[in-house]
Amino acid sequence: MSLPLVVGNWKMNTLVWQARELARGIRQHIELHHFDRSVRIVLCPPFVNLTAVAEELAGSSIDVGAQNCWTEPYGAFTGEISAAMLRAIGCRYVLIGHSERRTLFHENDAMIAEKLLRAWEAELVPILCIGETLQQRQLNQTWNVVENQLRGILSCQERSKKWVCAYEPVWAIGTGIAAEAEQIKEVHEFIRLLLNGRGCSHVPILYGGSITPENASVIFSVQNVSGGLVGGASLRVESFVAIIEAAAHAYRTRS
Ligand code: 13P
Repeated sequence: MSLPLVVGNWKMNTLVWQARELARGIRQHIELHHFDRSVRIVLCPPFVNLTAVAEELAGSSIDVGAQNCWTEPYGAFTGEISAAMLRAIGCRYVLIGHSERRTLFHENDAMIAEKLLRAWEAELVPILCIGETLQQRQLNQTWNVVENQLRGILSCQERSKKWVCAYEPVWAIGTGIAAEAEQIKEVHEFIRLLLNGRGCSHVPILYGGSITPENASVIFSVQNVSGGLVGGASLRVESFVAIIEAAAHAYRTRS
């Protein structure tokens, strides 16, 4: 069984000195308790703090990821950042299609498909975020939504490359209301079947949305949950490390 993956998405938080402090604090705890032997960890700070965080993590097992990249490799796209630029400063992962990008910045599936290609070209591991809104869930559309969001990647030649799927129900993001274990179980099972049916059994499926130290153990013990994508609780060393510890524990119990 491969190691669980815990990703911290810092969103638009941290000034550079705060990012350094947070990365340093996480590294110290991880190394002290040897969690790096049982969990893979990725930190995704804002673009401008990536280099500082990469410096703080140099020589550790913790990877750096970006929160987004642009659809083109280079050119006249004022204000945008390419996947190759991210790779050149030490990123290994990139979040693609986060629900905040889809809703606030109107990213559609065609753009997301382009971004995935750019990520692979730059040898980054894309973390594709999918998930339904509250209204879609209430209308029983969760299955269709998730399947449609995966359609692009599952019909793409490159799907056998390394990538990660993150199921983040939009209604659970930043609300303090995580999905129930049973809800996570049925959607993860559905995604697992879709991925396995298209030659993607190697792809881990993370859960994201209001993960806290209190609910992490239950979430990580759900079948087909390979780790977590953590927002708010990744901004404090204590809470993020507690979530990592829960992932390590779940891994040891399962294997
Ligand atoms: P919260 O953990 O703050 O709900 O955020 C989840 C998320 O969007 C991670 O990408």
